[in-house]
Amino acid sequence: MLFSKPKQVVGLDIGTSSIKAFQFKESGGGFQLVHADVRPLDPEVIVDGTVMDAERVVSTIRDICRENKIKVKNVAISVSGISVIVKKINLPEMTEDELDESIQWEAEQYIPFDIDDVNIDYQILKPIGENGNRQMEVLLVAVKKDKINEYTGLVEEAGLTPVVVDVDAFALENMYEINYELNRNEAVALIDIGAGLMNINVVQDGMSAFTRDISIGGNQFSEAIQKEFGVSFEDAERLKRGEDVEGVTFEEVVPILESVSSDISSEILRSFDFYRATSAKSKDAISRVMICGGCSRMKGFRDYLAKNLGLEVGVINPFQNIEILEGSFDFDFIQEIAPTAAVGIGLALRRVDDK
Ligand SMILES: Nc1ncnc2c1ncn2[C@@H]1O[C@H](COP(=O)(O)OP(=O)(O)OP(=O)(O)O)[C@@H](O)[C@H]1O
Ligand SMILES: [Mg+2]
Repeated sequence: MLFSKPKQVVGLDIGTSSIKAFQFKESGGGFQLVHADVRPLDPEVIVDGTVMDAERVVSTIRDICRENKIKVKNVAISVSGISVIVKKINLPEMTEDELDESIQWEAEQYIPFDIDDVNIDYQILKPIGENGNRQMEVLLVAVKKDKINEYTGLVEEAGLTPVVVDVDAFALENMYEINYELNRNEAVALIDIGAGLMNINVVQDGMSAFTRDISIGGNQFSEAIQKEFGVSFEDAERLKRGEDVEGVTFEEVVPILESVSSDISSEILRSFDFYRATSAKSKDAISRVMICGGCSRMKGFRDYLAKNLGLEVGVINPFQNIEILEGSFDFDFIQEIAPTAAVGIGLALRRVDDK
């Protein structure tokens, strides 16, 4: 393989409110942006993590490929939410081959689904314990087969080949690693707050120490505004972004924005408590929170979180270390999509021969 070029993939993030696609080419050890596109999906297309209108998803993927003249057929997609279980487990020390044989059986007790209904993957993290009672820490990932089949089916229907099925939280971590320095002995919480879902991934020593997906996000803000003021989804979206609409001013929706933001920060605090309670004593305290996803663009949201969590909160720029050739992309466009590009960028970093 020495002289063959690494095979590129298109990172395709099928989100609740939009589909994002990115492609890089490797350049001088770094990554250069070749394609970037974000196409909105109407709110009825994907509802609560369920694809209600497969045809629209497929046609949107097709539009993205056609209009950007994307030639690469291999794509990396990701799944998240209730169909995904990520757990750290301790197992007796054994070889990879032995683990390969026993993982199905070992996993059974940790997974709330029928073992035949999930695809299992794992990564051996590190040995723990004393001589005589040697164990190893294993990251166990289980994804419902019907979710994988649904998403790969959509991609195939659009004429593409899904070569990698990732998990949102891990894509986020890959994106973060190429853009930011991860200090040793520091735990950083990466939090993507999209339209339907919030993914939390606490990363420590270059590894995921804790992940959790929670069904809360931008749609909660919009739904609460719709309910209170009887406005359309579109008007609620505009109000959220700081605009006034007929009959309702932005000022009037601020209390709703605060109340939903408070729910989000409570969920984050609960997850942090859980991380602390379940992780080994050697674990570092979370020193920093880095947010992304559409909600990170909301006025005042970052400051609100910082105050409520009592931690430094930064907004992730997934293009920080990506080379963008002068004149190849509109700067305002890149700036505009940056907060919502994190997962898609993480996916575009994957390779054909990745799992
Ligand atoms: N300026 C803004 N102010 C407030 N909310 C915003 C702003 N821009 C985008 N949003 C909200 O962010 C959400 C979209 O974010 P994003 O694209 O990250 O979600 P998604 O990836 O489609 O959804 P998910 O990851 O949950 O499936 C929408 O709810 C949208 O209203
Ligand atoms: Mg998303």
